[in-house]
Amino acid sequence: MSNFFTNNINHIKNLSRDEFESLYEFSQILNSATRQDSLIEDAIDIVIKVINAERGLFVKYDETNDTFSIITARKISNESITDLHEFSSGILQKVIKEKKPLLYHDVMSDPHLSQFESVQIQRIKSLIGVPIFRDGNVWGVIVADSQLDRREFTEENLLFLSFFSNLVSLALDRIIKIEKLEIENQILLNKLQSFVDIPEMIGNSPVIRSLSQILYKVALTDATVLITGESGTGKEIAAQAIHRLSRRNDKPFLAQFCGSIPDTLLESELFGYKKGAFTGANSDKQGLLEAADGGTFFLDEIADISSALQAKLLRVLENREIIRLGDVKVKKVDARIIAATNKDLQTMVKEGAFREDLYYRLNVFPIRIPPLRERRSDIPILTSYFVKKISKRETPIDTSAIKKLESYYWPGNIRQLINVIQRALILCDTNKIYAEHIILEDAQDLENFSGTLREFEIILLKKRLDEFNGNRTLTAKSLDVSVRWIQLKLKELGIQ
Ligand SMILES: Nc1ncnc2c1ncn2[C@@H]1O[C@H](COP(=O)(O)OP(=O)(O)OP(=O)(O)O)[C@@H](O)[C@H]1O
Ligand SMILES: [Mg+2]
Repeated sequence: MSNFFTNNINHIKNLSRDEFESLYEFSQILNSATRQDSLIEDAIDIVIKVINAERGLFVKYDETNDTFSIITARKISNESITDLHEFSSGILQKVIKEKKPLLYHDVMSDPHLSQFESVQIQRIKSLIGVPIFRDGNVWGVIVADSQLDRREFTEENLLFLSFFSNLVSLALDRIIKIEKLEIENQILLNKLQSFVDIPEMIGNSPVIRSLSQILYKVALTDATVLITGESGTGKEIAAQAIHRLSRRNDKPFLAQFCGSIPDTLLESELFGYKKGAFTGANSDKQGLLEAADGGTFFLDEIADISSALQAKLLRVLENREIIRLGDVKVKKVDARIIAATNKDLQTMVKEGAFREDLYYRLNVFPIRIPPLRERRSDIPILTSYFVKKISKRETPIDTSAIKKLESYYWPGNIRQLINVIQRALILCDTNKIYAEHIILEDAQDLENFSGTLREFEIILLKKRLDEFNGNRTLTAKSLDVSVRWIQLKLKELGIQ
């Protein structure tokens, strides 16, 4: 490219003022163009205008198949041309073969060109063709023509187009590289979003996949997160994953279990204390919220905290400030708060058992961890994962065992599954886990049932209700009874 400019520098003075101006105008377009098609359309329009051509065309050349395709073709009226037959493909081939700009005057009388039907049809008088290179190969050709009743092109026009085509080549090179990077970027982003692998969270079900995506997204923010879910579903694992995926991951992740802990003890753990704040406070002590500065603080079982502590936590969330017990000094803390509960906080708010303002401060970004029975398809993969983890070797699991695990309703979720697997590994002395090694809590195991009819009714009804997530209509249908019968039975048997 630079060779071209050095060789032609003497000819630059031959360019007309108009041509100079359009080279300048075009170099500005080149600098701002980000797409191939718009660049080329602008280029053709400039060519038509500057050399006063009738029609302008840009064709892409496919070297492997030796074929052309129209990228842009314009008439002076700005109409688009879509059929390549309106142009001479012979001219294109000539430009490609000679790899240099070509100018023909009096096209009709040129014995090489007039043989091309299209030229005759179009009654073309002058024709100009300029190759555009990419990595040294012809990438495309700009062709412009003028018909009989128009002025002929000049050598000056040819020179202009040569400069011009080099500018186009440079711009295309840049744009193609940008487009390639954009596509690669898109693919990478897509891969990240379609499945963000959180290694500690085993599972391949759609619910777990979308949960991973949500965790990944919220981890990029500092938003307070409220994780809800039944006991043993993996709330703590989710909180840890958010921290690990966040920009805070080089700072501490600290957790405090808030259930059934005396208020003053919990408060001194969270906020710390000043020497002499209470009997036994022999020195100043930093609280966990302070220690988690810059990191993440996990408030586990948030529903259990007293109303006095709820008020203090509200202040942390509103002002990001804490005061140590017995102190007057206010300290700023920058800890991202994640809270978790297996209780229905919204109902607790309605009942006045939990502060509404604190609830809204915590519930900035709610995440629900689905119970295991909503993702039974994960049971086989979870089972083999835990079997391997606990026994430290591959222990085959019979399909009968998997079936039994899959049909259970798992009130204790993953934690319960881990316990059941632990027990199965102790019981199995055959190097393979069979259904008989799977001992499930309560008498849900109807096959080996030996109780009374009334007990049987209770178990069956509970099992079905669980299977249908408490939906009485579906339960009634599956038992071939009326919804009313179910309601009466529940009342009679004292089932909630
Ligand atoms: N998707 C998962 N893959 C592998 N292990 C999991 C998964 N989810 C949870 N676990 C495991 O299950 C157990 C319970 O998880 P965790 O303690 O996070 O649940 P939780 O919802 O906080 O329970 P709780 O309400 O009882 O506190 C842990 O041993 C955890 O490692
Ligand atoms: Mg927990």
